[in-house]
Amino acid sequence: MHELFERRASTRALDPATPVTRDQLTDILDAARWAPTWGGAQPVRFAAGLRGDAEFDALASALRRGNAWARDAGALVLVCTEVRAEQRPDRYADVDAGLATSQLILQAVAFGLVAHPMAGFYPDLVRETFGIGDGYRPMVMVAIGAPAPEDAPTRTRMPLSDVMFELRSPGS
Ligand SMILES: Cc1cc2nc3c(=O)[nH]c(=O)nc-3n(C[C@H](O)[C@H](O)[C@H](O)COP(=O)(O)O)c2cc1C
Repeated sequence: MHELFERRASTRALDPATPVTRDQLTDILDAARWAPTWGGAQPVRFAAGLRGDAEFDALASALRRGNAWARDAGALVLVCTEVRAEQRPDRYADVDAGLATSQLILQAVAFGLVAHPMAGFYPDLVRETFGIGDGYRPMVMVAIGAPAPEDAPTRTRMPLSDVMFELRSPGS
């Protein structure tokens, strides 16, 4: 596995004194923008803020209480995706959002930062503050920041053998 995947972890201890730079944020958003997209549709949209600016404050104030730790982030990015009437593109718009989020996270990790996705925010609040209409669905917010020392979290995954579908044996 590439070391980027090994280094990525959803840790919560962020160093509020170390900023994320505007250039880093631009590169992180560019990495997300260049993710695969179904049929070239490009349904994913973003809102982003750097600590200290009005966008950051608007995103931070939409966090649920359980994600108050993310106020120590240097940047917050909201990932939204388009809602479409036709079912197939709509489903793939969600896949696109996941892929964009993953690329965004890994670019941040490549900068030595932590990037932690969160579903715990109030979508209606960000809809209001950023004017996001019914045509887009806020999907996930990502806290990006410099890692602060913390006890290494215990991270586990199901073994590969448990997540694989196998061919059915003949006759079953
Ligand atoms: C869609 C999604 C929503 C998540 N929402 C939150 C959240 O609101 N708060 C939080 O602390 N972590 C959240 N996480 C992070 C997961 O808890 C974390 O990815 C999981 O525990 C596995 O740990 P790892 O990312 O370090 O491998 C979310 C992850 C995903 C993919």
